[in-house]
Amino acid sequence: MKEIKTLIDEEKLQERIKQLGEQLTKVYEGEEVTVVCILKGSIYFTVDLTKHIKNDKLQIEFIQLSSYGKETISSGKVDMRLDLRDSVEGKNLLIVEDIIDTGRTLKYLIEYLKTKNAKTIKLCTLLDKPERREYDINVDFVGFNIPNKFVLGYGLDYEENYRNLPYIGYIED
Ligand code: IMP
Ligand code: MG
Repeated sequence: MKEIKTLIDEEKLQERIKQLGEQLTKVYEGEEVTVVCILKGSIYFTVDLTKHIKNDKLQIEFIQLSSYGKETISSGKVDMRLDLRDSVEGKNLLIVEDIIDTGRTLKYLIEYLKTKNAKTIKLCTLLDKPERREYDINVDFVGFNIPNKFVLGYGLDYEENYRNLPYIGYIED
């Protein structure tokens, strides 16, 4: 097994997620909110974040996008592997993403969701690597800005492994 270093430990992660949830409680006060979880990477974040959003009209939808393949650098194209099942017309969509790197995935998704006549579209990402941005996108809520390292754990994978780590780590090379 490779040696994994910790970038953000479990306690810090959970503390920040709770803060984001409290912020989102206020943002969507008196409104419905439909969380769009991007599979697979965002599952852990979506689960923990939504527990801290106090809203009795919160719904969760899933979409699966893939751009990375087996490489640690982006392959340059986005595949939709699983589409939304229900209409999101007139809804307040909150996209929940694990990490924004070049921005390609989100650019694609936002353009796609704009064709679905949602009422509002906001974006919340746990991690952001702003140094790597190639596509201009508006990020409404960010958990942590991180340096340009390949990270894993808490939903993020390296060749589909390590998603189950409860913290954000990286492999030292
Ligand atoms: P983007 O389209 O370049 O912004 O890449 C976003 C997607 O690439 C994310 O949803 C992740 O699935 C994946 N990704 C980007 N950086 C990392 C990383 O450091 N570790 C694991 N996956 C990553
Ligand atoms: Mg991935």
